[in-house]
Amino acid sequence: MHVPVLFDEVMQALQPRSGGRYLDCTLGGGGHTEGLLKAIAPDGRVLATDADPDAIARASERLRSSLSERLTLRQAWLDETPALARSLGFAPLDGVLVDLGLSSDQLDAAERGFSFMREGPLDMRFDRSRGVPAWKLIEQMDVQRLTEVLRAYGEVPNARRVAEAIWQARPIMTTGRLRDVVSGVVRTRSERIHPATQVFQALRIAVNDELRRLEAALPELIEILKPGGRIAVITFHSLEDRIVKDVFRRESRSEVAQPGFGADESRLARLRLVNKVPIRPSEAEVARNPRARSAKLRVGERLGPEDGEERRMRQKRTRDGE
Ligand SMILES: C[S@@+](CC[C@H](N)C(=O)[O-])C[C@H]1O[C@@H](n2cnc3c(N)ncnc32)[C@H](O)[C@@H]1O
Repeated sequence: MHVPVLFDEVMQALQPRSGGRYLDCTLGGGGHTEGLLKAIAPDGRVLATDADPDAIARASERLRSSLSERLTLRQAWLDETPALARSLGFAPLDGVLVDLGLSSDQLDAAERGFSFMREGPLDMRFDRSRGVPAWKLIEQMDVQRLTEVLRAYGEVPNARRVAEAIWQARPIMTTGRLRDVVSGVVRTRSERIHPATQVFQALRIAVNDELRRLEAALPELIEILKPGGRIAVITFHSLEDRIVKDVFRRESRSEVAQPGFGADESRLARLRLVNKVPIRPSEAEVARNPRARSAKLRVGERLGPEDGEERRMRQKRTRDGE
């Protein structure tokens, strides 16, 4: 079963309180959702979503108890959750959690095609009822595009050479075949990380359009928070973390209109950065759960309109030299 990462840190960040309303956009094995439900008893509610229908089915089974009365489960992509939360009457929210990447349940299911250590179809879709599986995506890309995907999403060394090898070996229908093709062109640089790791990660991110969804969702998730409500985002990949960092930074600054000099419209800061540097798992957690190794947690708190106005005036006064 999936062990939730940075569990205590997430609870501390979101400060769950009874009666509150929370959104967990990445239900996975349900560990964080369960923690939230317990912390906000007796009357707090959680809307938990995941793109993967299997995750929803498993969690509804596992959390079937008195907790489930206060839990609403829905299948949804990350960028669909703000509208869903609104339509279900959950907004404005006290807290939002996004815990990106894969769950151990997904990684361990050979038929999902996420792991190069398990023989299965090269699928990698979070939602198998929609979209294009990885083997087909490879068919649809030319070598140039495949190189870009491997380089950008996997930081694969010698991306061009790997892309050419994959392209020549098409069709690649299984995880084992892709692993063997990659092993044939990339020498193992470290005992701990197999060269196929980054290739699998890159393809998974492309198959599920993960970065675009993250970038589209974050401002909307901030929008549906109450003043004082918090958003916590856990990433496992430098590109994901950069997106969170950039959106959080942008949302924490007010901009006063200076047509022709960057800001054409005034915008008030909507977020306070709770931590300036990301929170990392302790050594003890990494020893217990090696999956947590690359996790980074960023937390923001929604400002009210007055907070934003105050900041804007302060910035203006500083600029005007008052
Ligand atoms: C790391 S797991 C979450 C684990 C969970 N916090 C727990 O305590 O068990 C990530 C989950 O998010 C889902 N996911 C990842 N990216 C997503 C996206 N862009 N939209 C919707 N779900 C996504 C995956 O299907 C997976 O189940």
